Amino acid sequence: MSNKFEFEKIVSHLQTSGYVFAGSSIYGGLSNTWDYGPLGAELKRNIKDLWWKRFVQESATNVGLDSAILMNPKVWQATGHVSTFNDPMIDCKSCKARLRADEIIKKQFPEVDVEGMSAGEMDSFISGHKLVCPVCGKSDFTPIRQFNLMFKTHIGVFEDDKNIVYLRPETAQGVFVNFKNVQRACRKKIPFGICNAGKSFRNEITPGNFIFRTREFEQLEMEFFCKPGTDLEWFEHWKKHCLSFVEELGVKEDNLRFRDHEPAELAFYSKATTDVEYDFPSLGWGEILGIADRTDYDLKRHSEFSGEDMTYLDSDDNSRYIPYVIEPSMGLDRLMLMVMVDSYDEETLENNETRIVMHLKPSIAPYKIAVLPLSKKLEDKAGEVMEMLSKRYMCIFDTTGSIGKRYRREDAIGTPYCVTIDFDTAGIGDDVDASLLNTVTIRDRDNMTQDRVPLDKLIEYFDERLNK
Ligand code: GAP
Repeated sequence: MSNKFEFEKIVSHLQTSGYVFAGSSIYGGLSNTWDYGPLGAELKRNIKDLWWKRFVQESATNVGLDSAILMNPKVWQATGHVSTFNDPMIDCKSCKARLRADEIIKKQFPEVDVEGMSAGEMDSFISGHKLVCPVCGKSDFTPIRQFNLMFKTHIGVFEDDKNIVYLRPETAQGVFVNFKNVQRACRKKIPFGICNAGKSFRNEITPGNFIFRTREFEQLEMEFFCKPGTDLEWFEHWKKHCLSFVEELGVKEDNLRFRDHEPAELAFYSKATTDVEYDFPSLGWGEILGIADRTDYDLKRHSEFSGEDMTYLDSDDNSRYIPYVIEPSMGLDRLMLMVMVDSYDEETLENNETRIVMHLKPSIAPYKIAVLPLSKKLEDKAGEVMEMLSKRYMCIFDTTGSIGKRYRREDAIGTPYCVTIDFDTAGIGDDVDASLLNTVTIRDRDNMTQDRVPLDKLIEYFDERLNK
């Protein structure tokens, strides 16, 4: 079951608490662009680091890469992006809304297999079934026009057609063009994977649903090169690996599902594709990542267009072949949206107060520990604790408001632990308990229980709990 809270309510919380801000907001924004605030930036880094750890650092076969956003435009001719990376755009003549024809059909006829339809077939379907504009309810559309999703810019000083380059629409191609470089330089033997993460850009016709569909987003992609014939086995292997990665982020299992692509939905070069989807409140099931068997399509095309030999000599049996590729491709922003939505909760306390709490897994929470001095007089002692803890963990220091209010603030942004420094900790005042000198109170976000722990045991205490 998806989160019982309204999507809009969670989005509003994320915007006011410092996770996500509307892009260029002082200038009125720019259609569905978003900036990650201090909390969002930390969460994003934590998820990306975990991905790198699970797919690169701990892998016996894989290596990492950080390729350029601007690439030779021939790359995108070879891949087919220049000629076919299009969305079917349609305008409502009545209210002027710009829409995607496939989405109009999908919404009003979910049982229809729209992926397999040509633009002409979609046009006939929309007029034949008198489909209506989702904005104004009228049925008066322009014919469909194919709209290329790649952002164009110019390299150098002259803005002419000879200097057009594209912002990459996926990070994957940075891997394919470096296949030979990596294989030779790192003496890699097949099977092996190359992981590449970074910004991708698509001039989406209908960006929306907060950070779910944007024009600038971050991808975490791997291209895994294997011997033809072993590809379907590797496909299953990486499918399992991806699911365990997503589960490790701490989301509820019931909200996740695999969706295998039907044959008509598969890209013509793909042997198999499966998506991992999450059940978002209000939006329903949405794709978080895809795992695709891309066969030898990309390397073959790059070989044809560049003239470079992309074959691999397999020293095991002296055979020469173009490797097949399994590609797990994730959207980092969608992973973030998923964990933020899934962790959001509201609880009614005994005094009828509502506690907003994000039950984020401690290992990905933006701040791990909040250091809270009970009084201004304790700020020096608390500063020492902060200095010690922040060498190891991302911490936040908060001195304002009652301790109850400060706990609520930390619950609402998902900080797993609060460390309170009181007069006993510092031994300041007449009626301090000497046995509590240099001890602090640690309060747990999820069950609100408290422990008293000596300062010299603090690191050990948190290492046991935060590194799971
Ligand atoms: N190299 C394969 C590829 O790019 P894709 O299904 O087009 O495949 C992979 O994209 C992932 O990138 C998606 O599963 C999604 O998580 C993310 N993604 C794609 N378009 C996006 C957009 N406009 N906004 C946010 N994330 C997006």
